[in-house]
Order: sequence, then C-alpha cells, then structure tokens
Amino acid sequence: MVIRIAAVGDVHLDEDVVGRFRPALEELPECADVLLLAGDLTRHGTEAEARCVAQEFGGLAVPVVTVLGNHDHQCDQVPQVVKVLEDAGITVLEGDGVVLDCAGGRLGIAGVKGFGGGFAGRCASDFGEPEMKAFVRTTNESADRLGAALRSLDCDMLVALTHYSPVPDTLVGEPLEIYPFLGSYQLGQAIDSAPTALAVHGHAHAGTERGTTPGGVRVRNVAHPVIKQAYSVFHVGDQLDTDQVSPIGGSGSQRSWS
Ligand SMILES: [Fe+2]
Ligand SMILES: [Fe+2]
Repeated sequence: MVIRIAAVGDVHLDEDVVGRFRPALEELPECADVLLLAGDLTRHGTEAEARCVAQEFGGLAVPVVTVLGNHDHQCDQVPQVVKVLEDAGITVLEGDGVVLDCAGGRLGIAGVKGFGGGFAGRCASDFGEPEMKAFVRTTNESADRLGAALRSLDCDMLVALTHYSPVPDTLVGEPLEIYPFLGSYQLGQAIDSAPTALAVHGHAHAGTERGTTPGGVRVRNVAHPVIKQAYSVFHVGDQLDTDQVSPIGGSGSQRSWS
C-alpha cells in the first residue's frame, strides 16, 4: 500500500502570484492523496495575502494541510491568517497533528513551524542572557511539541511537516553563517523520536532538496525556489519509499525570498 504526498513550501503568495499554481493544483488527484504546505504561504502575513492563499489552495479535490512560516508571522496577524485558511478548508497545524484516511492507509501528519538554533557543534545554547535563553527555549519547546504530536498519532504512516529545517543537509547552498536561523537539530531529534517515514520543510530557498536525519528519516526541502515546480510528490508505504518526478510543470514563480 502506498500513500502519495504532494508538498511545496514558500509559495509567498500575494495578488501578483494568485493563479500561477492553480492549473497544476487541479491535477493533484491524479498523482497525490494530500497536499502539504511547508509555510511561508504569504509575503508578509497579512489577512489580505491569506485570502490569496485561500483562493489558490482552497477547494481542492485533495486535503490540504499546512504549517505557517516566519513570513506568515511578520504582521502579527496570525489568528486572522489561520481563520482565513481554515475557512477555506485548509488544516493549519502548530504543535499538533491530523490523521487522514487515504486509499493506501491512515496518514498521520504532525506539524510545527519550528525555529532556528543551529545544528550539532554549531548551535545556540541555553546559557547567558535572558534573551538567548528565550531563543533556545523557543527552539526546544517547538521541537518538543513536534515530537509529542508525532508520537501521539495512531496511523499507518507518519509524516513530519515543518517550516524550519531539521537537518543541515538540506541547507547546502545557503551561507553557513545563517544556518542557525534556518533550522535546528532539535527538530531532527523530535522526528527521530517517532517512526517517521518522511519529513518535509521549507524556508531555505537556496538550499538542497534531499537530506536525512541522524536516525535515517528521509528529509526533503520543498521550498518552491528549490523544487522549481508547483509541488513535488513523495510515496510512502510498504514498499521502498520513493520520490516521484512530478509530471506537473512549474508554476512559473521562481522568485527567491527568505
Ligand atoms: Fe520563504
Ligand atoms: Fe521562511
């Protein structure tokens, strides 16, 4: 049995971009059971931009599940953004999960935005000024909520959805100096704390598509500027997990924002 997962992140929608993804999205039922959005849906996190997201990704023939990204927080309108998305039928995860009944089995998706902090040997530590401790506490709490959500789901296949990266592998191409702002090893530890089949994230526009957690979980950076198509499709199931080359063409939007 196989579950087919389409995913894209960092679509950064505004009025100029609306409509570019839709033709490919209409073809989703042919190749995927669900669409995951890995955050940075908008440019500045306004309610108006959220309505653009709702217009583009609402009413599709497959379930849509998302986390928010840092850009979606920029204007401090997260409650309004979430409401617009949920009113459009999009499931918004933040430290929780959802189980979907797919033809190939029950798919569990746990999601969290995540946060920075860095990776083993090059990471922020819970030491010193209150501001630094608060930074690391945010990282730890985010990862803890992801791990708890992953371990709580009763499903056949388990997927982790984040905006920030859980591994450095998928950041290759980004400047080393900003790795601590692109993800944290704690997210990787959370993913490895459960029988996760696949982890997808965004945020690293100049990064690399493929990586692996220390525990061997397949990680994919699905940021739109990286995958350069409307979405990528991944298969998880009894047989060997595979990445599918999407027959769907690019959306035409290859602008790069952080
Ligand atoms: Fe982004
Ligand atoms: Fe981002």
